[in-house]
Amino acid sequence: MIIKPLPSEVKAYISAAQGTPTPNQVIKELIENALDANAKNIEIDITSPFSFKVKDNGIGIPYEDLPNAIKRFYTSKISSLEDVKNIKSLGYRGEALYSISLVSKLTIKSRYEKEEVGGLLKSVEGKITVHKPFPFNKGTLVLVEDLFFNFPARRKGLKESKFLSFVKNLLLAYYLVYDVSFTLKTKKELFNLPFLSFKEKLNFIFQGKSFETIKGKYFSIFYTSEKIKGLENLFIVNKRPMDFKIFENKFLKNIKNFYKNIIVILDIPPAYIDIHISPYKDKFEFTSKAIEDLIKEELKDIFGKKVYPFYSKERFLLKEEQENIFDLKLLGYLDEDIIVGYTKEYVYYFDFHLIFEIYNSVFLNLDEKTACKYALVKKGKMSLEEIKEIILEVLSSGQITCPHGRPLFVKFPKKDILKKLGR
Ligand SMILES: Nc1ncnc2c1ncn2[C@@H]1O[C@H](COP(=O)(O)OP(=O)(O)OP(=O)(O)O)[C@@H](O)[C@H]1O
Ligand SMILES: [Mg+2]
Repeated sequence: MIIKPLPSEVKAYISAAQGTPTPNQVIKELIENALDANAKNIEIDITSPFSFKVKDNGIGIPYEDLPNAIKRFYTSKISSLEDVKNIKSLGYRGEALYSISLVSKLTIKSRYEKEEVGGLLKSVEGKITVHKPFPFNKGTLVLVEDLFFNFPARRKGLKESKFLSFVKNLLLAYYLVYDVSFTLKTKKELFNLPFLSFKEKLNFIFQGKSFETIKGKYFSIFYTSEKIKGLENLFIVNKRPMDFKIFENKFLKNIKNFYKNIIVILDIPPAYIDIHISPYKDKFEFTSKAIEDLIKEELKDIFGKKVYPFYSKERFLLKEEQENIFDLKLLGYLDEDIIVGYTKEYVYYFDFHLIFEIYNSVFLNLDEKTACKYALVKKGKMSLEEIKEIILEVLSSGQITCPHGRPLFVKFPKKDILKKLGR
């Protein structure tokens, strides 16, 4: 026989290397477990990115179940494939504590809400060293020590300040969408997120600065025009913090820079999205194209209006125009302001001064006056290639008139011109 099963310690070594690759991920899993346990108060104590504990007042773990908590594919949260597709809890794989236990020294203290005494479980590299009754308040404490002591290479290149900033922003995201209070203790500070209403929490997170609200069928968006210190942009989908890049890539393609800080909350029926596409649970895909398009359309419309108050659907380029305009070839300046170009069917005269002004204010987020001055300075000093890029960017974002209603271009069918020439 040449194809043989791996010895169990090799399997463990390999899967440890695959799962939970960063302290960020490890602490996130512990916080998620506390939230799934319905905790109302969660305390996080960070000694370093490799030693920290998370204590909650949730339902706890039954004494006899403690060893199961760190076994692979053991979970109390789901029992069928149907459950996974309609997932309500943050955890569902029965994988997190198992993989964390393989790369750390783990201590769990817990008391299940229906039991009188609690329990203590300790493990090193996944092997249980202690399992005994232990008096404990209702809830669970998970202590991770010496993370990656057996994978020293994993410890390299990790900045403590980045880790702490990640944790804080993660807590802010959960804080906003869960009914929970957090206390974060680090060597340097105490970060308290007290019990508050949703509105109060928003004010708290935006540090009292004013913010705007946009609401749609499936989403709520809050944004500021001032940068909030320490706050990253948050994207929360069905109560899960997601990679903000997904939001940018999926929904914000042509619309930039209208906010300094933004919090986007999507709430979609669970069956419409698949969250099981990344081991870090921070990415998702829509399972329904119809829903994805619906959200995109709604966002595009609302963003368009917010970013550019004179935007309206009617001013959106005709579909036919959008397709043709990409064949655009520019011939040059008619005079300083007017650029002449043509596509297969039309000859265009663009008011480049207007186009450039819009480009500056919408895409580069300059105010109107600066945008106008900037336009004058740049005029006549750009290559036709650069100019074409700007024209296409502005037109394909839906603008065909300026804020005061002046057209950005006029066009004449080539066939009319040819007709007049007797061709
Ligand atoms: N803080 C906690 N309070 C109560 N039970 C917990 C806690 N942490 C873990 N558990 C129990 O241990 C089990 C295993 O946790 P683990 O995080 O490994 O898996 P999971 O949360 O079920 O799924 P996932 O791997 O997706 O996180 C959980 O299903 C839960 O029953
Ligand atoms: Mg979990």
